[in-house]
Amino acid sequence: MADSPIGVFDSGYGGLTVLKELVKHLPQYDFLYLGDNARTPYGTRSFRVVYEYTLQAVKYLFSQDCPLIIIACNTASAKALRNIQQLDLPHLAPDKRVLGVIRPSVEKVAEITRNGRVGVLGTPGTVLSGSYPIELQKWAGGKVNSTVQEACPLWVPLVENNEIETEGAAYFVKKNIQNIFAKDKELDTLILGCTHYPLLIGQIARFVPEHVRILEQGKIVAEKLIDYLQRHPEMDGRISKTGRLKFQTTESADNFNEKAALFMGQPVVSETIHL
Ligand code: DGL
Repeated sequence: MADSPIGVFDSGYGGLTVLKELVKHLPQYDFLYLGDNARTPYGTRSFRVVYEYTLQAVKYLFSQDCPLIIIACNTASAKALRNIQQLDLPHLAPDKRVLGVIRPSVEKVAEITRNGRVGVLGTPGTVLSGSYPIELQKWAGGKVNSTVQEACPLWVPLVENNEIETEGAAYFVKKNIQNIFAKDKELDTLILGCTHYPLLIGQIARFVPEHVRILEQGKIVAEKLIDYLQRHPEMDGRISKTGRLKFQTTESADNFNEKAALFMGQPVVSETIHL
């Protein structure tokens, strides 16, 4: 069978937290990871720009024979996915699929919240898009009564600059966590709505009350993908399964390899491509 991997796209390194879990749960599947490191971050960019960049990446991954693409980036899922699914896919590749990370997270919230009060931490772009509150209303089966959000613009740079364990990181994490609990002190479920935030979990957990469930997306996306592939055997049959893992970046491969190893917890060898 020719290579037809699952494409995993992110604005940069962050989506590797999702890829890591996908590989753990679906080790026999082939994956092609694309990080748009040359144009990261997406979190502060406009709708039009995030849509254009994400569409370019999707077209590229289709040209690499990916029958299914996971948009691992929350910002791109929030700002571009719906347009791509509704406007572009029907004429670009009606037999292919592009999925995001917001819907699986929302479905998981519906399964675990006890009081229906949810908090979302994300980039300014994700928060401003309103995607989480909208999707929680739509797909959480009436289980969510209130959603509060908090933009955490400094968390991505803290992770990217490997400042995870520092006092600086503790200061900003504490501040944003206090802010979101000031918006709703009763919330019982907190979504880490950004690819990078799982790397800050040690800091985040210090400031979140113990009874609050913190949702990291990687594992959720992996579980929901398994479920999706079981429900769509025709798609499952089109994905090659030789356990191959390929990495591509729009920036320097050497830089990517170094930082990606931090996210993946294993050595990474990538190649540079142009979108
Ligand atoms: N991947 C982005 C997200 O999950 C964070 C990094 C960025 O802003 O590009 O929202």
